[in-house]
Amino acid sequence: MSDDLQRKIQEAIQNPKNIGEMQNADSVGTVGSPDCGDMLRMWVKFKEDGDGRKVIDRATFQTFGCETAIAVASVATELIAGKTVEEALSMSGTDLAAPLGALPPMKIHCAQLVEGALRSALAPQTPATPAQAPAPLTQAKPAPAKSGSLFESFAAPAPAEQKVKVVLKPPTPSK
Ligand code: FES
Repeated sequence: MSDDLQRKIQEAIQNPKNIGEMQNADSVGTVGSPDCGDMLRMWVKFKEDGDGRKVIDRATFQTFGCETAIAVASVATELIAGKTVEEALSMSGTDLAAPLGALPPMKIHCAQLVEGALRSALAPQTPATPAQAPAPLTQAKPAPAKSGSLFESFAAPAPAEQKVKVVLKPPTPSK
């Protein structure tokens, strides 16, 4: 891994963007990596832009993943803001990780974990045909009172109905 990539990942880790559960999300997606067993969940909120298009207002994430996955998710959630579902779905893991630079082959799957969670979150929002009006926004189902870890909720069916308790916090900056 290059020094520049390592530095950008560390910067993203020290100040991760859009981390944590989104209470009023319109959609949520969760995936696990078959390569390493890590997991990532992404919440998405939509809005209508000035041209009347449904676009991603904001996205947040939580993960049991490596530093690269956290860094990619951090930059990806910033990258997709303002994009339509189709535009976001057209982005590969490499596209989503682009602000960090090229990932080494052994870390490609970390970006694919982010891509998978995004696709999972956006899949129900994809219009059947481009000519069709966008699907009405649906509210994410409220989480039940009982909470579980991301691992527990990932293992259980209907992950959108599970509350996530895993919250990554950036390290306290030294003074
Ligand atoms: Fe598992 Fe990076 S090693 S997501």
